[in-house]
Amino acid sequence: MSCVSAAWSQEQDFVRSFQRSFFTMRRMDCLPLAELEERLKNRKDSTLLQHILQQTVLHPLCHKYPPSVKYRRLFLAELIKKLSGENIKLGENVAIISEGTTGLVTWEAALFFAEWAMENSEVFNCRSILELGSGTGLAGIIVCMTCAPKQYTFSDCHPSVLQQLRKNILNNGLLLNLDTWNPKDCEAELKNKNLSEENQRPKITVVGLEWSEVTQEQVAELQSDIIIATDVIYDPEVVLCLISALEKFLISNEKKERCSVVYLASTIRNPETYHRFKMELDGVGIGHQVITGPTSKVFPYNRATKIELLKIYNET
Ligand SMILES: C[S@@+](CC[C@H](N)C(=O)[O-])C[C@H]1O[C@@H](n2cnc3c(N)ncnc32)[C@H](O)[C@@H]1O
Repeated sequence: MSCVSAAWSQEQDFVRSFQRSFFTMRRMDCLPLAELEERLKNRKDSTLLQHILQQTVLHPLCHKYPPSVKYRRLFLAELIKKLSGENIKLGENVAIISEGTTGLVTWEAALFFAEWAMENSEVFNCRSILELGSGTGLAGIIVCMTCAPKQYTFSDCHPSVLQQLRKNILNNGLLLNLDTWNPKDCEAELKNKNLSEENQRPKITVVGLEWSEVTQEQVAELQSDIIIATDVIYDPEVVLCLISALEKFLISNEKKERCSVVYLASTIRNPETYHRFKMELDGVGIGHQVITGPTSKVFPYNRATKIELLKIYNET
């Protein structure tokens, strides 16, 4: 047996031992976490973690005979801790609207989308992604940690949101592209971090982007394979700005080799506003289809909330 296939077979055994422990609900301190840490040290990507997730939390058997929610949460928290060195940590504000923005709390559609992304990591693997209205950044942080995109650009229009977003990215062990921000803004989060560009997987950028003011230069600069947005449809005025931005990103991509597709997750609070958004998309020749949501229940949020995931694309 060659070295490569021996290593591959050892990894299969290792993942199987995780799978057995998960489905028999072994205590966290009985999981092979130390070996996982060792294996992750020698890798630059998150495929091992994805493999473990696919064989445990995201496995069809888990849908049929799931270990308790509490156990699944603990299990997932341990995996994320090993990947990032810590649990997912987000600086948020308890008020729904703070400093005049909704962007300083994480919304349920972001959790819903993150679960879907973890189940469909191949959609994002090695792709360049632009997120609109990132807020605290949970959806993007999970995509960067578990789906191995090539490049991820977080964006928002609000200065306080952008500042908190950068801190959240750094606090979760991810690195930022140094060209695009002032490290003085996040001095505390930067302590003890290795900022070598080489370790930057994926390449992560945070940019200020106002949907009503998107320029052709920004469209060219931020061109990406996939656009993501969560919980950005909540006000009829915002809907029009968002449509105008999507139009620019999707339609200007028409003649290029790569074509952007948008994944948009929305909590449907006001069906009229949401319906209007879909009608406006039809009006400008942008197609959309509803995608089945996640089957796993990884994050805690109210499952009775109506959340819809749309795939949006240029129809022409
Ligand atoms: C309800 S929050 C959702 C935040 C995050 N995506 C989530 O799901 O937790 C909406 C976000 O969109 C941003 N936003 C609203 N209008 C915007 C605009 N015209 N241009 C850019 N961002 C905008 C806000 O700053 C805020 O961060």
